[in-house]
Amino acid sequence: MNTKIILLLALAANGAAIAAETEVSDSDRIAQYREMISDGNPADFDEMRGEELWKTAAGPKMATLEKCDLGKGAGVVKGAYAELPRFFKDTGRVQDLESRLLTCMSTLQGLNTEEITAQPFATEKKPSDISSLTTYVTGQSKGIKMAVSVKHPKEKEAYEIGRRIFNYRAGPYDFACSTCHGASNQRIRMQDLPNLKVQKDAQGAYISWPAYRVSQGLTRSFQWRLNDCFRQQRFPEPKFASEATVDLTMYLAVSANGAAFAGPGLKR
Ligand code: HEC
Repeated sequence: MNTKIILLLALAANGAAIAAETEVSDSDRIAQYREMISDGNPADFDEMRGEELWKTAAGPKMATLEKCDLGKGAGVVKGAYAELPRFFKDTGRVQDLESRLLTCMSTLQGLNTEEITAQPFATEKKPSDISSLTTYVTGQSKGIKMAVSVKHPKEKEAYEIGRRIFNYRAGPYDFACSTCHGASNQRIRMQDLPNLKVQKDAQGAYISWPAYRVSQGLTRSFQWRLNDCFRQQRFPEPKFASEATVDLTMYLAVSANGAAFAGPGLKR
């Protein structure tokens, strides 16, 4: 990490403390951080790590992921994320980026997907390969308009189930995603809650993940974001890349259609 970024992050952290005192909203602060480090996001390092992993032979089959078909043909990474989730003929199901990566890691490299999904998120002590791969692949859609299809009946079905999950109330507080994200101008403490039923908010939320989280010092994926919101909802943690998370991602990705993908981003 170059010294300029380290310095700016230190300044940003200091800025956060000031924010707490002066009640400047987190979103204003984040806009300032973004401007300060506009020539370099720490997520770039995770993106490079992911690219290295993509191109390095690994697993029992000692293969790279360079023949992985993310929907636009074997090996095509550019623009692939802007069209995911989508239906894949070879697996007969709708897959998001992570579940597709699992397919490739298993078929091409012979890796054990149970082992990968047991601990799929990075911690301070240990980076996550699937998370870094996600950062790399998503970065290859930067600037490309989201164009997720619901033409295939299975895609339509996934979208419909995702929409229902979004509105499904349950758990100890009877919360749905829509309890926190179905009305405009809601906040929890200093955090603005996007109204994911409104196109502009839904687009802004989706196109900015994965993101480097300044508060955690880690680059986080959209799957991580969903997991954390299941926790906010007091629901059990979903299985990584499970059908429910893919369907919910389908619903949110379609809501973001038309917006140019802007990740990997930067968040508080
Ligand atoms: C109890 C309230 C609550 C519930 C329920 C909840 N969330 Fe969230 N969600 C939040 C908060 C708070 C944030 C912002 C966190 C932050 O800024 O650190 C957030 C952030 C998000 C974001 C990222 C927005 C952005 O611009 O970065 C997405 C996407 C999201 N939630 C989706 C969901 C989905 C899908 C569900 C249902 C599984 C859900 N949330 C349930 C509170 C909630």
